[in-house]
Amino acid sequence: MYRLAKPLLFRLPPETAHEAITGLLRVAQRTGLERAYAGHYAVDDDRLTVEAFGQSFPNPVGVAAGFDKNAEIPRALAALGFGHVEVGAVTAEGQPGNPRPRMFRLREDEALVNRMGFNNAGADVVGERLATQRLPDVPVGVNVGKSKSTPLADAPADYRYTYERVAAGGDYFVVNVSSPNTPGLRELQNREQLAAILTELQDAGASPLLVKLSPDLHRDAVVDAVELANELGLDGVVATNTTTDRPDELRSPNAAETGGLSGRPIRERATDQVRFVAERTDLPVVGVGGVFTAEDAYEKIRAGASVVQLYTGLIYRGPGIAHDINEGLLDLLDRDGFDSVEDAVGADL
Ligand code: FNR
Repeated sequence: MYRLAKPLLFRLPPETAHEAITGLLRVAQRTGLERAYAGHYAVDDDRLTVEAFGQSFPNPVGVAAGFDKNAEIPRALAALGFGHVEVGAVTAEGQPGNPRPRMFRLREDEALVNRMGFNNAGADVVGERLATQRLPDVPVGVNVGKSKSTPLADAPADYRYTYERVAAGGDYFVVNVSSPNTPGLRELQNREQLAAILTELQDAGASPLLVKLSPDLHRDAVVDAVELANELGLDGVVATNTTTDRPDELRSPNAAETGGLSGRPIRERATDQVRFVAERTDLPVVGVGGVFTAEDAYEKIRAGASVVQLYTGLIYRGPGIAHDINEGLLDLLDRDGFDSVEDAVGADL
């Protein structure tokens, strides 16, 4: 099906295509149609289940933050066979984000560049939406960002405001200090400022609490962030967000657009960071960046990821991607003699 729909969708501007797809999924979720296709996409197998940061994941393939910014379609996404859904980023204030166009396809590279700038309806609206809808059976995480208008020095209170509004509807919470599209945000990854945000959220009762890191962080800063996560008793680390770097091999002219690069070209770099983090902590790692196939997911799992997430792969491979990855993972586990995904986590460390 997606082979037919993709050329049509790819004729639309990327954000329009995204709105068309999410519109369909919204209808599916509202009418209960999602239950009809759930059977088609689900891969139900005990070998795929993962227990991490107090959550039971039916399979290790989740939807990364940014796809469902306003928590409108978590059930519809779970029905596509995903084992968890991370909604957001949500910020304290609703904000329009950057002017369009702000999302670009790099078709030749199977990549995207985006400079959305945390467009979202805000914590009050998203919190209410999470609290009043029937949520899926899979874990739902909430990715929390900083409002653009809030000075960096006031970030802890801004994150806390959002957390308190979404707390009731989330199964886990991710402090996003790694988006390249909010000016200064990534500076919050430094030890002192990150500690202030994380302790503020812990004080508010945020648990399980994870932090999402940029692939552009210097190794010393990753070491600092992971040490901090260990010291504060965080519940996990998400690696990674998009990169502002542009690898030499990119072929698409859209590589020149400003913003964060995602998809195929960041796969290896994200896996390297998963490995680097997993070597320095016993906390679970969520691996994200360039996952398109079962091999890609397996690479991150063997490098130490307990679960993986994807966004760009869903655009290029379509709604069957979680199903295909989960089926493929079962074959890879068989091939290598692992009893389960959990057995394979960190096998390459
Ligand atoms: C993102 N990503 C993202 N991450 C985050 O923590 N909060 C967010 O709001 C967003 N928004 C967002 C929008 C768009 C259009 C894209 C493409 C990406 C980053 C995303 O969650 C993920 O970390 C990267 O895209 C890398 O994974 P993929 O896309 O290579 O699978």
